[in-house]
Amino acid sequence: MSENMATARACANIAFIKYWGNTDDLLRLPVNGSLSMNLNGLYAETTVHWDATLCEDALILNGKPAEDAARQRVATHLNMMRERLGLTGFAAVESQNNFPMGAGIASSAAAFAALTVAAAQAGQLELSERELTTLARLGSGSASRSVPTGFVEWYAGETHEESYAESFAPPEHWNLVDVIAVVSGEHKAVVSARGHQTASTSDLQPARVRGAAERLTVCKNAILNRDFAAFAEVVEYDSNLMHAVMMTSRPPLFYWLPATLTIMQAVRLWRTEGLSVCYTLDAGPNVHCLCLGDDAQAVESRLQGLPGVEKVLVARAGHGAEVITPTS
Ligand code: DP6
Repeated sequence: MSENMATARACANIAFIKYWGNTDDLLRLPVNGSLSMNLNGLYAETTVHWDATLCEDALILNGKPAEDAARQRVATHLNMMRERLGLTGFAAVESQNNFPMGAGIASSAAAFAALTVAAAQAGQLELSERELTTLARLGSGSASRSVPTGFVEWYAGETHEESYAESFAPPEHWNLVDVIAVVSGEHKAVVSARGHQTASTSDLQPARVRGAAERLTVCKNAILNRDFAAFAEVVEYDSNLMHAVMMTSRPPLFYWLPATLTIMQAVRLWRTEGLSVCYTLDAGPNVHCLCLGDDAQAVESRLQGLPGVEKVLVARAGHGAEVITPTS
């Protein structure tokens, strides 16, 4: 590999306490802190080559030249890295995801975490993990949480430097599994960035934000104590609150499909029957069914029997973003 080139891999992550709305849309400073787990095996792999002969940034996405909107978003992120880090020239970027994009499995989180780490490494910059999380955040807020390992907290902060993410438990701390019911692999109609901008038009957003710090503490303690009952209660509540804000924003955002609600109701029923499982949803119709490792197989096979479930993906807690040597 040439010396201005590097490849990084970063996992997607699932938020347990959600990020929804910014105090500064440009810097992506969120209105509340959030918590997540990296999803092992669901990743983006991105190669960046700083190339002095290019006259603009180029993007190959999943093997094909990317559409202009995606290329532009990457170029905007690279502009910001050039400005902040003194990098010069343009970059050829090649990125692949191994999971469906744009359907509530945060593809932008994995993509911008991998892009940031690869771009810094290819530019021969030695940045701290904390700094990498702040830079990744500028590309996609949730990407900040895909840089550190395992279970991660993103501090809201009031400035660029203060709004960073860090790990609070390694992947092996708790055998929690995300069994994802994919009800639609199609690209979502409304990108998260639009939703963050309209969140404040919901009368419910102030109430959601007011309780967020307390929910975060409860959730973090539940994870640290491996207390599934406490975890399930706060995670479902936080997801419901965010979707209530989405549905009452102006214009409203409805991410659920009929199958989404069927699954949510089934998960609550299965919990009363003794399975350690709860649900959470991001900005899409797919349902992330979080369960203890011992119940993952039962949850997976029950989901496969529900109407409208196109496929089921299974992910345990994953590591942080890393520079890799590509195999091909
Ligand atoms: C619902 O990080 O995708 O998944 O900063 O505009 O890229 P941008 O938004 P994004 O928002 C994620 C929202 C969420 C909740 C979460 O992951 O915390």
